[in-house]
Amino acid sequence: MNVSEAIKQRKSVRAFLDRPVETDLLIELLEKASRSPSGGNVQPWRISIVNGPAMTRFRALMQDRIQSGPMDDPQYLMYPEKIGDPYHARQLKVAIDMYGLLDIGRADKDKRVAWMNENFNFFGAPAAIFCHVERHMNKPQWSDLGMFLQTFMLLVQEAGLNTCAQEAWSLHHKTVDQFTKVSEDWMLFCGMAIGKSDPDHAVNRLETERASTDEWLTVI
Ligand SMILES: Cc1cc2nc3c(=O)[nH]c(=O)nc-3n(C[C@H](O)[C@H](O)[C@H](O)COP(=O)(O)O)c2cc1C
Repeated sequence: MNVSEAIKQRKSVRAFLDRPVETDLLIELLEKASRSPSGGNVQPWRISIVNGPAMTRFRALMQDRIQSGPMDDPQYLMYPEKIGDPYHARQLKVAIDMYGLLDIGRADKDKRVAWMNENFNFFGAPAAIFCHVERHMNKPQWSDLGMFLQTFMLLVQEAGLNTCAQEAWSLHHKTVDQFTKVSEDWMLFCGMAIGKSDPDHAVNRLETERASTDEWLTVI
């Protein structure tokens, strides 16, 4: 698979087959992904793999956590308070399309919450990673995380598996931090579900759009 094909094929998958993923494969792909560039070559990421028995333990912990009360206050703002258009319209479109495929209506709060909570089951994925960054790092280092994660997602695609990056985990960062045993100096950025896509699940029919280059590209 060449890079263009991997980019074209990658999409967020939100339902997975019950098929194990080898931890050694994830280690290999993460090591390859570490060839990603980073400003000053600081490589500011810290990754934890959750797989196999650790995933079973973590799932049980999360089930208890979800029932025990409200989510954690996020440590970073996922989006600006007033994000404005065209960004808000794009967010809305992806949500409408996704809930449409799931046949969950706007007013069906219980089903919406249940689907949101599927994030905290990694959408049924057998394996996952968490990505932390040191608290004192700046915006450029956060962008380095993005490059690392996209490189990793493309390598996972090449290996015949699928992913969904998940900032939703910032709403349960305390449980994640406790489980991964990272020190307080590190802040959770996101999780990522990893496994083989369930081709029969409606949510995986979601195909997101991209703005045309007219909207964001200038040739000077
Ligand atoms: C950093 C990051 C965090 C994301 N967090 C979530 C999440 O918490 N839950 C979710 O369902 N999708 C999440 N997504 C997936 C985006 O919604 C998705 O990438 C976007 O809609 C474009 O669709 P595509 O990935 O299928 O191309 C996240 C993506 C990125 C890059």
